[in-house]
Amino acid sequence: MLIEDVKLIELPKLMDTRGNLSFAEQNSHIPFEIQRTYWIYDVPGGENRGGHAYKSTSEFIIAISGGFDVTVDDGKQKKTFTLNRSYYGLYIPKGLWRTMENFSTNSLALEFADTKYDRNDYVDEYNEFLKMKSNGEI
Ligand code: TYD
Repeated sequence: MLIEDVKLIELPKLMDTRGNLSFAEQNSHIPFEIQRTYWIYDVPGGENRGGHAYKSTSEFIIAISGGFDVTVDDGKQKKTFTLNRSYYGLYIPKGLWRTMENFSTNSLALEFADTKYDRNDYVDEYNEFLKMKSNGEI
């Protein structure tokens, strides 16, 4: 997959004087069937998360609270998305290097994935990622 396949998706937003509501459905706003969800929180200032690629996992990330930057990299191009609204989700298809940084205080990153957790699906070394990308293995 390439940078162009990464999509920032605006989610429904129901504005209400009682408080706003947004939602996301699988195979619709989230363009896959959800197998897993996890969340990242209490990130100390200056820490980074997610420096890796997945061979076969696609993800959808929402900044439910606060904000952070997500940088995606297809081996040739990089793009940084700032997520700081709870009615946007970032779709990152498989086979892209991704890092998350600049977490604001009390930020909460909610992530949906289309696979169950499998450590073997990770590519942790950037050079290995570049090699796999140029071989067409990922
Ligand atoms: P990791 O994916 O490396 O975190 P990040 O990409 O944010 O830096 O996961 C950190 C730890 O959490 C690692 O020991 C694996 C575990 N983990 C699970 O058990 N299940 C999951 O769904 C995820 C995402 C991580």
